[in-house]
Amino acid sequence: MITILAIESSCDETSASICADGKILSNFIANQTIHEKYGGVVPELASRAHMQNIVPVVNAALASANCNLASVSAIAFTQAPGLIGSLLVGAQFAKSLALSLNKPLIAVHHMQAHVLANLIDESNKPEFPFLCLTVSGGHTQIVWAKSPFELEVIGETIDDAAGEAFDKTAKLLGLPYPGGPLIDKYAKEGNPLAFKFAEPQITELNFSFSGLKTSVLYFLQKQEAGFINKNLNDLCASIQHTIINILLKKIKLAVKQTGIKNVCIAGGVSANSGLRNALTECGIQYNWKTFIPKFEYCTDNAAMIAITAYYKYLANDFSDLTISPTARATW
Ligand code: KG4
Ligand code: ZN
Repeated sequence: MITILAIESSCDETSASICADGKILSNFIANQTIHEKYGGVVPELASRAHMQNIVPVVNAALASANCNLASVSAIAFTQAPGLIGSLLVGAQFAKSLALSLNKPLIAVHHMQAHVLANLIDESNKPEFPFLCLTVSGGHTQIVWAKSPFELEVIGETIDDAAGEAFDKTAKLLGLPYPGGPLIDKYAKEGNPLAFKFAEPQITELNFSFSGLKTSVLYFLQKQEAGFINKNLNDLCASIQHTIINILLKKIKLAVKQTGIKNVCIAGGVSANSGLRNALTECGIQYNWKTFIPKFEYCTDNAAMIAITAYYKYLANDFSDLTISPTARATW
């Protein structure tokens, strides 16, 4: 049996997971609430919280999977991209474990892992090739996945990520960080067509979200006091509707250009209920096969690191102890 212990610590979630022969047995996530009052992730605080969380989270993942360190076949960790201080905690921990237990080490790319989160559910996983719209707090990409290791980015944002568009517009509405899940919540009670915000005219498969933030800001500046409170649900529904429209327009174009009709979503924003519903509807309307990871595998989690590491293990793709994390990394 191939048993992977995986650690994710790229941003503000400390997570550990156990995967046995490609099946996720546990996935523990410690969310760092300390950043809420600062309106965004404070890197130094994130690193410190990772140091406090990592041992309990790894122990919880092992215990819940009924597993111990001796039975682990390899240790995996997120090597890039992310906040360097956060990545360092997970990387050093994983390297120390690998050294002391004399087990192989597997370095995983966080964005590859978001895409491969779609392979976790054995009963409903996409065949290769597939397209994946990866939408998170730091990235917005359309990925053409030819195999677990051949992932080509065919479109991406030229400025803000989709998650940033959610978080920054939420901030304009006075909502705490991260605002994405709150916009999702209030949008359920609102009218998506109540307000109209600018949609970018970007060519090909690229995205832009900075104009939306400015459009919402100028719109709000023109309103009288109390407007946001009175119209919060409609504002959230309209902002969410605009972001989803921008995303869907490009994924439809990607399907047209590639002829691939297996379409997945991944990343924190793929937890958005409006996007999940809209993709499912597109699937019905255009005869696509659509794949949406379970909520816990959308936002940052170690299960996606574990499944990616499992494929890397099968391909004998190991790292040695000289490997270091990097904040920015291409594929
Ligand atoms: O993938 P992720 O957990 O971390 C990164 O790698 O960035 O994504 C976090 C992003 C945040 O911007 C957060 O607001 C957004 O995902 N997010 C959502 C929802 N849940 C998380 N955005 C919209 N609706 C949601 N339900
Ligand atoms: Zn992520």
